[in-house]
Amino acid sequence: MTPTLNAEEIRDVNTRYHDVAADHYDAKWGIDFGELGQGQVLAKVRKALRRDAGPFAHSLEIGSGTGYFTLNLMLAGTIEKATCTDISPGMLAALGANAKRLGLDVETTPTDAERLPFEDESFDLVIGHAILHHIPDLGQAFEEFARVLKPGGTLLFAGEPSRYGDRIANVPKHLATVLAPLWRAAIKARPAPPADGGAPEASLEGLVDVHAFAPGELSSFARGAGFQDVKVIGEELLANWFGWTNRTLEATAHPEDVPWGWRNYAYKGYLTLQKLDRSLLESRLPAAIFYNLIVTASKP
Ligand SMILES: C[S@@+](CC[C@H](N)C(=O)[O-])C[C@H]1O[C@@H](n2cnc3c(N)ncnc32)[C@H](O)[C@@H]1O
Repeated sequence: MTPTLNAEEIRDVNTRYHDVAADHYDAKWGIDFGELGQGQVLAKVRKALRRDAGPFAHSLEIGSGTGYFTLNLMLAGTIEKATCTDISPGMLAALGANAKRLGLDVETTPTDAERLPFEDESFDLVIGHAILHHIPDLGQAFEEFARVLKPGGTLLFAGEPSRYGDRIANVPKHLATVLAPLWRAAIKARPAPPADGGAPEASLEGLVDVHAFAPGELSSFARGAGFQDVKVIGEELLANWFGWTNRTLEATAHPEDVPWGWRNYAYKGYLTLQKLDRSLLESRLPAAIFYNLIVTASKP
């Protein structure tokens, strides 16, 4: 059974987990700072703000990790000056190395999202990707986002897990588990070797995520902190089902036996379905059923 942690323990586990994960984080998640990465991040920002965004004079990123959001937005010309924060000094060190390699100048400050060491009204944009679900006291964190934003400033958080989207994604995961022996026989793959405990941080993995959201909850936090024009949209439906099906199948096979052709099909199929989600489904279906949520708002 997963132990129940208090807020201080959640922050501590997040710091330790991400400090260790920092080393191989970009490779694990396929984080890219080229055309692909910039395209992904810009598409999210355009979709969220319903326009070509920026340029923003000074941005603050919360839980910036190795820099996926901020560095790509700087490279794309959407952000002029950036400050990045994270509870994990290891992640910020990896971000610093990425920024140096890309020739970008970024300020980094290790801090917890609930206590931001910045003056009131310092930033034009507060952003984050895949961070809110790690924060114990979201009411307090949103108060801080509002405090450090200038009047008229923009708030944008993407990549947040959706509670119902996550439950729906269990269906393809379950189906793939049932079909896995047939699939392995078809591609002539041996079963996966027994797990060796995996990466060193694996024992903390189940403890770092503390929320999955219904869209209304995200809106309430933003409104509660005084934001206006609050919108929550969903992203990734078919792409996600397809991705989970393939990842679940692949996890059951010996990695050396999964053919290149299959991996290529899985990757290209994912990108095609992502386009279909974007062009056809995201504007028509309720946000709650998608796998990820994006919340945007502005400070009055
Ligand atoms: C899933 S990673 C996402 C990193 C990056 N935004 C990205 O999309 O690649 C979550 C990040 O949030 C940071 N984090 C976790 N809890 C935090 C907290 N309470 N305050 C600030 N950062 C936190 C972690 O250290 C980690 O870098």
